[in-house]
Amino acid sequence: MVNKLWCVGVGPGDPKLITLYGKQVIENSDVIFCPVKSVHSESFALETVRKIIPLEGKEIVKLIFPMTTKEDKARPYWFSAYEKIKEKVISGKKCVFIVEGDPLIFSTFNSVLEIINQKKEFDVEIVPGISSFQVMASKVKLPVVDGDEVLVIMPASTKEKSGCRTAQLRDDFEKILEISSAVFILKSGRVINQLTEVLSERENIKVFFGELCGTENEFISELNDELKSRENHYFSIVMIKREEKKVDSGSDEKKEKDVQVSQSIFHRND
Ligand SMILES: C[S@@+](CC[C@H](N)C(=O)[O-])C[C@H]1O[C@@H](n2cnc3c(N)ncnc32)[C@H](O)[C@@H]1O
Repeated sequence: MVNKLWCVGVGPGDPKLITLYGKQVIENSDVIFCPVKSVHSESFALETVRKIIPLEGKEIVKLIFPMTTKEDKARPYWFSAYEKIKEKVISGKKCVFIVEGDPLIFSTFNSVLEIINQKKEFDVEIVPGISSFQVMASKVKLPVVDGDEVLVIMPASTKEKSGCRTAQLRDDFEKILEISSAVFILKSGRVINQLTEVLSERENIKVFFGELCGTENEFISELNDELKSRENHYFSIVMIKREEKKVDSGSDEKKEKDVQVSQSIFHRND
């Protein structure tokens, strides 16, 4: 009897970015659970997996996680998902829950994992996936953090008391920006206008917008006014990187010598 659930992060949408171990776990599974918004929606994670793993003979179970931040509305769905998973796991089937990106970063799996950890009715193994923020950084080819630098990964807005996420940039944004060397803003599509305004005045930062990173519909651009009139996809991320002058060309004495050397080269060639 296996009595274990695997959760595999399948990365941002490019099947080449599924880890070898994640692929192996999915190939060996009998049942694949995938999160969807509603009965009629398709699973982004399953579409990614389908591109490289034949799914014939596997049972596919859609688990509904409605797009609500109201916890009292969402909670029954978490428990219903948990019960469906438990039934299959306890029956001895090899079960895998697939999620887009990494399973522990703002993921539907987190709510189920809390129930699994509380109830301790079966074991769980988590296979990390490449997260959207990692793909974004790799596309703009900038170091994320180094040395004493601070990295922040956050959603663009906060939840109101009612549990609803606002369409407004979070109030603590400026404070967060002050202490961070790199900030990744997830769920950023709806706050692009505000972000553009707040950040346009700032110096010594680079800001990039990424949509559907790591898919064939990837769109990456520096943050600019044109993005305001665009219909931005839910899979949108913003990367802010503070520009530090880290690559020092040497001491003043050395710089002076360098100038003398280059001047003498110049004179020789003159
Ligand atoms: C529910 S969270 C899932 C995050 C995911 N677990 C991860 O590790 O990236 C959804 C948010 O992640 C970001 N996201 C996920 N995939 C993305 C992609 N391929 N390109 C850009 N942003 C993405 C977007 O900000 C989106 O609103």
